[in-house]
Amino acid sequence: MFEKEPKPFVKWAGGKRQLLDILLKNIPESFSNYHEPFVGGGALYFRLWSEGLIKKAHLNDYNPELMEAYRVIKSRPSELIEELKSTKYRNESETYYGIRAETPRDSIEKVARFLYLNKTAFNGLYRVNSKGGFNVPFGKYKNPKICNEENIMLVSEALKKATLFNDDFSIVLKYAKPKDFAYFDPPYYPISKTSSFTNYTKLDFTEEDQRRLQSVYSQLDKKDIHVMLSNSAAPFITELYSNYNTVGVMARRAINCKADKRGPVPEIVALNY
Ligand SMILES: C[S@@+](CC[C@H](N)C(=O)[O-])C[C@H]1O[C@@H](n2cnc3c(N)ncnc32)[C@H](O)[C@@H]1O
Repeated sequence: MFEKEPKPFVKWAGGKRQLLDILLKNIPESFSNYHEPFVGGGALYFRLWSEGLIKKAHLNDYNPELMEAYRVIKSRPSELIEELKSTKYRNESETYYGIRAETPRDSIEKVARFLYLNKTAFNGLYRVNSKGGFNVPFGKYKNPKICNEENIMLVSEALKKATLFNDDFSIVLKYAKPKDFAYFDPPYYPISKTSSFTNYTKLDFTEEDQRRLQSVYSQLDKKDIHVMLSNSAAPFITELYSNYNTVGVMARRAINCKADKRGPVPEIVALNY
């Protein structure tokens, strides 16, 4: 519908761009407001917005730096672009470790640092250690796009329809109304012990969280809200959603430090409609 589609402004583990077509085929025929409690890079939101399918949206993620970036891009995109274009943000090792060691107070500088590290860090990972520190080494990329001005402006436009939250996913219960549509893309339950990547935030997403999420899913279902969820096809997960319609997919995981672990993994999409 719109000429240009905004793209996720961060590289994010679990980014949904390759699954988009399958997700789009499975969205409800019509819906009122949209809710995405694990928004991450927001690939599906930006696509739905560019197709003209968003009336109002509630976007949430537990990661505070990510949500601060959403807030700044929504309301102060030009100031952010100006900061990112300054000579400070160079793609060199010394600059990288210098910026990595900083803890800016100012919002614009904080978000510029976050986006800079996301584009120049090894593998584009956002990974924190148990103390919440960003610990990824320099990525040595040839020509990373540290400031994609056009995309930041488009994302800002797309976010005008969104209210932003930095909370636990259960916040969706407060805002979702009958006939709304909620899409859940939680940290995936590991298919095998070594395949997990759940360090987006200081806390791991545990089995207990997966059960809590299933309970939120079923509460929304009872309220006549359309719910779509993606997760790995681990038996624990397929069992949790066995009362709903599930579509099986094979997806290539985009971010994994070991190239041989990037092979396709079985995933499911669970729908209550
Ligand atoms: C698989 S990623 C989402 C990927 C996203 N759909 C995309 O296209 O980039 C999962 C997200 O859940 C967030 N998260 C982890 N625990 C959470 C919680 N308890 N509540 C809300 N979000 C959480 C992580 O910060 C991460 O961004």
